[in-house]
Amino acid sequence: MRIAVVGSGYVGLVTGACFADLGHEVVLVDIDEKRLEALRTGKVPIHENFLPELLARHLGKRIKFSGDLQAATRASEAIFIAVGTPPTESGDADMSYVESVAREISGAIDDYKVVVEKSTVPVYTNEWIRTIITRNGADPEMFDIASNPEFLREGTAVTDFLYPDRIVVGVDNERAAEVMRKVYGPLTSGWYYGRGDALPRPDRAQVPPRLIITSAKSAELIKHASNAFLAMKISFINAVASICETVGANVQQVCDGIGTDSRIGPRFLNPGIGYGGSCFPKDLLAFRAVAKEGGYDFRLLEEVIRINEEQRRRFLKKVRSVLWTLRGKRLGVLGLAFKGGTDDIRESPAILLVEELLREGCRICAYDPAAMEHAKEALPEGVEFAPDPYQAAKGADAVLILTEWEEFAILDLEKLRGVVRYPIVLDGRNLYDPAAMITHGFSYYSVGRPPALCEETPAGRSGKKERA
Ligand code: UGA
Repeated sequence: MRIAVVGSGYVGLVTGACFADLGHEVVLVDIDEKRLEALRTGKVPIHENFLPELLARHLGKRIKFSGDLQAATRASEAIFIAVGTPPTESGDADMSYVESVAREISGAIDDYKVVVEKSTVPVYTNEWIRTIITRNGADPEMFDIASNPEFLREGTAVTDFLYPDRIVVGVDNERAAEVMRKVYGPLTSGWYYGRGDALPRPDRAQVPPRLIITSAKSAELIKHASNAFLAMKISFINAVASICETVGANVQQVCDGIGTDSRIGPRFLNPGIGYGGSCFPKDLLAFRAVAKEGGYDFRLLEEVIRINEEQRRRFLKKVRSVLWTLRGKRLGVLGLAFKGGTDDIRESPAILLVEELLREGCRICAYDPAAMEHAKEALPEGVEFAPDPYQAAKGADAVLILTEWEEFAILDLEKLRGVVRYPIVLDGRNLYDPAAMITHGFSYYSVGRPPALCEETPAGRSGKKERA
């Protein structure tokens, strides 16, 4: 099929590259000429597993980059809108980019096309897109609108796309449904998975995925409701972690105990310093605004947001209670991205914590495997950046783990013990077994678990085991 994807941001690029890998002819459209030029020369502007491989595989063959939206629309059967919908001050999503794309598309609808919303949008957007396209002169019989929310996680977006749990398509008639079945046919028929050059299948993936066809409005709600539910799960376990801390229980054991109930499930039950990123914080605000507009006060979401913010404050309090005063203390910070596997620092709890620690007078030396470039732009001058975790921890009064990067879970603890000033680790992501940390001579504080305490002798001398 010939497909246009509008917007070469994170969602658009992944979607375009994956469609090309499914055998479609893709034109990726953007208004940013500089970005297009970089993409044409093979530069990949975001950190995403497998994306460079897919773009290189299809560049100039099944994937082209263009600034001409009208030409791309004319040439395509389906036009996917994947432009940004940033939050306004009131929390509503700003739909002006979507609107301007809809306006421009309208002049190029010369035979039947399906215009697909891929951006995360509030309910009723499909109706607005239809209205705008018709208002600008397109024949209403010549196009339909579909809502096809994405459930991609940063870092694993490419494999999430190609091995999804489900594909949700919201359409209001059979003609549009047929086009969308064709778009995803290579996945739903299993054809892609039988190919020798298919990307490796993630452990949990069930293939082929189910195609769920709903009304356009239901599909729009599915996206917001999914993200809100996942964020709620995280805030729930963070609240339970706080209770564990007060009663001396272990949240990891509680997670095992509740997560094995198949109705609850173990995923997205990892306690920590709260969720961040470009999706959950924004989508929760947008979903709450949508509910409010319809006359429903979705206070549960407010509580989810409040617990999330509280979680960061609790961690900061923990740092304070371990180090007593913060002014002048040197902290080795491991992790700046909002989660492991990405260079994205948007709404990153790690960045927010570092800012707070700087305000309290700490000296920070940070390391992140991918997000340091972005962090350098975002953080004030004076923050040091190290080329590896051990240099970040060198001479530190305490080491803070703030992002769940896999490489932080397998640190050489002997080496770490040898470089810090005091063997104190505050882990905001529960990456270590407390007993193992004591064995390596560290006092270890994590989230929702009793602290594991060691005699905090300076580096070079071994700590005596006290209690776990
Ligand atoms: C999220 C959803 O998981 C995707 O399904 C959705 O498509 C995407 O938003 C979107 O709307 O575009 P993403 O923001 O990439 O994906 O990241 P997640 O893996 O969901 O993590 C979000 C945040 O929650 C991170 O800060 C992570 O550290 C935190 N988290 C996640 C926890 O604190 N505990 C967990 O158990 C899981």
